[in-house]
Order: sequence, then C-alpha cells, then structure tokens
Amino acid sequence: MESREDIMQNAPFETVPMNPVIGAEIHGLDLSKPLGERTVAGIKQALLDHQVIFFRGQELDPDSHMRLAGIFGELEPPHPIFPKIESHPQIAVLENDENRPPETNIWHTDVTWRDKPPLGSVLYGAEIPVSGGDTMWASMTALYEALSPSMQKMLEGLRAVHSIAVFANSGNYETSQDAEKMMDVLKLYPPQSHPVIRTHPETGKKALFVNSTFTTHIEGLPLDESAAILKFLYEKVKTPEFQVRFKWEKGSVAIWDNRATQHYAVADYYPQYRRMHRITINGDVPY
Ligand SMILES: [Fe+2]
Repeated sequence: MESREDIMQNAPFETVPMNPVIGAEIHGLDLSKPLGERTVAGIKQALLDHQVIFFRGQELDPDSHMRLAGIFGELEPPHPIFPKIESHPQIAVLENDENRPPETNIWHTDVTWRDKPPLGSVLYGAEIPVSGGDTMWASMTALYEALSPSMQKMLEGLRAVHSIAVFANSGNYETSQDAEKMMDVLKLYPPQSHPVIRTHPETGKKALFVNSTFTTHIEGLPLDESAAILKFLYEKVKTPEFQVRFKWEKGSVAIWDNRATQHYAVADYYPQYRRMHRITINGDVPY
C-alpha cells in the first residue's frame, strides 16, 4: 500500500494548511472535471490529515457535485427535513434570507441522530452574501487529546443519546401539519445511542462525539451529572486553538470529516440571501 507521504507527493495539487490543528486549502484543481486516481487518493488523504479541506473558484453543477462526493463512498438518502434539488434529491438546498433566518449557528456534528452518522459532507457555496456567513470547524480529536488522562478514561466508558427531535422546536415547524411530519420523521429515525468518545475508523484517533444540537443526555448518569459533563465538553468545543474559520466566496467548496469535527455556521449575514448545496456521505456505526 502506498504511504501517506507518497499519496500526497503524487497528488497533482497543492495542500496549504490553515493552522497545524485543522483545515487546509487545496489549490490547483478543477472539481467540475472527472478526477483521476491520484487526485482522488490525494483528496481523501488530505481530508484525513486536516479534517476539513477547502477549494476556491469552483463551478459545481449537481452532477459534478454528486461525482465529487461519490469519491468518499455511498451518499446519504435525501434529508428528511431540508429542501432539495428536485432532479438530485440527495443534494440538500440550504437557503436563508430575511424570511428564513439561519439556524445552524450552534456547534454540532451533522445527522448524529442516525444509527450510522455521516462520514462527511461536501458543501458548495452557490450564492454568497457580500459579507458575513463564515463557517467554523473544531477538531474533536484535538479536544480529546487536550483532556486529562483521568477525564479521557471516565468519558470512554460512556454512551450518549442523540435525537432529531430538536428540529421540532425550530421556528420552521410551527404548523400542525409540520408537527405531524415531525412525528413521522421521529418514527423513521428514533433516538440513537453512540459512544461519547469514538475511534476514527481510518486514522484510529479518538474523538469527542457529543454535540450541543442533537445529544440529549449521557446514558446511565443522573440528569444533573449528565448536564454538567456535557456543559463542560461543549465549552471546550469553543476553544479557538481547536478551530478554523472559513470565509465563503461564490464557488467555494468545503469537505469535512464529520467523524472528527463539529461546525458552527456564523449567522451574522442575516437578512442577506445565501444558498448552499450540501451532499452528505454515508458513515458507519461509531465505536
Ligand atoms: Fe451542519
């Protein structure tokens, strides 16, 4: 098998780390064209190395977007809540403006309410406001590694419950018809239990796997203990040294490893219009 160094040396693009912990920009690729074997191997390795990678000045139509996401594996089924591109329902359209205020300005890992949360996502900036709207990512491996050995040990034995029910409390679900739809969604996607610390299936690194959006509680603990531990961990996610912040331009692409990161979409561009296209890649059962 080719070594990590060989893969990156043979990759026909430049990888520029944004800091030593998380995030890299990749230069010299046109993602609208079919990608060769070395390019694919290099992009996958860069994602494992940097946890979130960025491209600028791309023109991704639905087909090239699907092809790019497909290099990482099978794609997730259409999102049960988000609007989608009709001809390509696996592409979620995240659209915000005056009447649809941004709501993802809270730290989270995507879709942890599924039994197999996604490997990652490929997000394309289709319409970007003139200012504001950065996205931040935080490394959950860096967070885990910064904890004391005693805290690591305590957390490793624990599991936490994740639920999609949070969408029921969002402003978008006010009508009774929406509430009914939410009940159906909950039947389809009942709450899931995942380890608080997961092991990355490819790098073998350990990472924190609870998030302030979907995690409801840690199993087997009194509620006050669960709440105190989660609060402590969610504060840690906000540590700037674990983070990278990306300024979007029209045509920017971000690909993140959802098994090792959390993200936060800064909502300061409201009430300007923004449209993003997201494809999510299937993951496996966390362990
Ligand atoms: Fe997200």
